[in-house]
Amino acid sequence: MTAAGRGRAGDGTERPVAVAILAAGKGTRMRSSRPKVLHEIGHAPMLVHAMRSALSLAPRRLAVVVGHGAEAVAEAARAAAPDVAVCLQESQRGTGDALRAAAPALSGFEGRLLVMFGDTPFVRPETLAAMAAALERHDLAVLGFEAAEPGRYGRLVTGPAGLERIVEAKDATPEELAIRVCNSGVMAGDCATMLRLLGSLSTENAQGEYYLTDLVGLARGEGRTVGLVLCPEAETLGINDRAGLAAAEAVFQAGARAAAMAAGATLTAPETVFFAHDTVLAPDVVVEPNVVFGPGVRVAEGARIRAFSHLEGAEVGPGAVIGPYARLRPGTRLAEDVRIGNFVEVKNAEIGAGAKANHLSYLGDATVGAGANIGAGTITCNYDGVNKHRTEIGAGAFIGTNSSLVAPVTVAPGAYVATATTVTRDVPAEALAIGRAPQQNREGAAARLRQVLAARKAARAARKD
Ligand code: UD1
Ligand code: MG
Repeated sequence: MTAAGRGRAGDGTERPVAVAILAAGKGTRMRSSRPKVLHEIGHAPMLVHAMRSALSLAPRRLAVVVGHGAEAVAEAARAAAPDVAVCLQESQRGTGDALRAAAPALSGFEGRLLVMFGDTPFVRPETLAAMAAALERHDLAVLGFEAAEPGRYGRLVTGPAGLERIVEAKDATPEELAIRVCNSGVMAGDCATMLRLLGSLSTENAQGEYYLTDLVGLARGEGRTVGLVLCPEAETLGINDRAGLAAAEAVFQAGARAAAMAAGATLTAPETVFFAHDTVLAPDVVVEPNVVFGPGVRVAEGARIRAFSHLEGAEVGPGAVIGPYARLRPGTRLAEDVRIGNFVEVKNAEIGAGAKANHLSYLGDATVGAGANIGAGTITCNYDGVNKHRTEIGAGAFIGTNSSLVAPVTVAPGAYVATATTVTRDVPAEALAIGRAPQQNREGAAARLRQVLAARKAARAARKD
């Protein structure tokens, strides 16, 4: 290969990068109707984790090869990167054949190509950059790692002139099986050269497949140099079964906890806090034990998430205090210093600055103005069995305990709803709404009632004898 085929063009500028992610495999060992690459880690498909890493290189072209569950995988890929080229591999005849399926999306591309696997989600952006950079010195580069248990991984066979070939475990001799440096699946090289070499692959191997890994031997056969970049095994973790998925989740969570703390959040018991791929915690957020973040949560500075709370699709404003035992559902927006207490559920609701709902409430499809007080047991009755309706509560309003607000309904600013009122009509500003049956006290009636009840019980017992 000429210098222009390597990392830098003749004028010294970096050559553009394209990435192909192979994701057509079935993942038989997952025992799932869902394609393997759509199983989630931190609430995002493992494919999306791999794509994010790839996107960090700002590739000129990004191709994802789909096959098993093609439509669903394509949809997930497009959701993560609208410009992605989705390529169909009709039948899964090996990783080399999969890259061949990406050829239409890569044709005419003059630059470096990185190949990744959709079931290997943790390869870090820095490692991909090191792979791309290795092409300044080599025609092809392979990402390897020292495996604690080499098992089914491809083995990297080296000689005096470096990496010579990759042998799949099923094709390896006992001596080759003893090699511990294994193939991660990430490979980089000049795009046109790699695509050309794919034409020389054969299926003469134990699995009868076109192996991408054979490109190494083919490149060496043409007198090209092949570089080896090593990374920690944790990065190349490939997911093949449910136990592997759980192990990957644990790796993701450990990384997310460390990143949250490094960014200035306090986690009282980090090992009990679970993050989603997109959780954002500002500095000086405190997260108490046993908190679960679903997707789409942002927590602003100084907020405190108390123990046993569950949040998803929610924005928590600065200084707000949530929980313990609170549930924030999608569409929740809490302004600064809001208080959401124990056993309060909030959904699709905007709560104004300093407003409080401290105990046992449901606020759904609602707007609550600044400084409003929502008493214990307040329920927004938002659903009539067919449609959802909104409840508007103005700034400074006071909603007494055990009130039902039958939506659509508005409680205007400064209004007061008396305890146990069922609000079915709008309440004007500064008005008092009271709607409960008047109470009667009947002197001596308790004793008479008890006598009657006791007599009935005795009569029933006598009938049974
Ligand atoms: C592959 C490598 C092996 C490496 C290991 C690392 C080859 C021949 N072997 O083996 O050297 O140590 O990964 O995890 O490359 N795929 C397709 N179409 C296909 C076959 C596979 O798109 O026809 C995709 C899969 O969806 C998956 C990836 O390629 O994302 C790897 O395929 P897999 O079958 O898991 O390969 P391994 O046997 O793990
Ligand atoms: Mg695999």
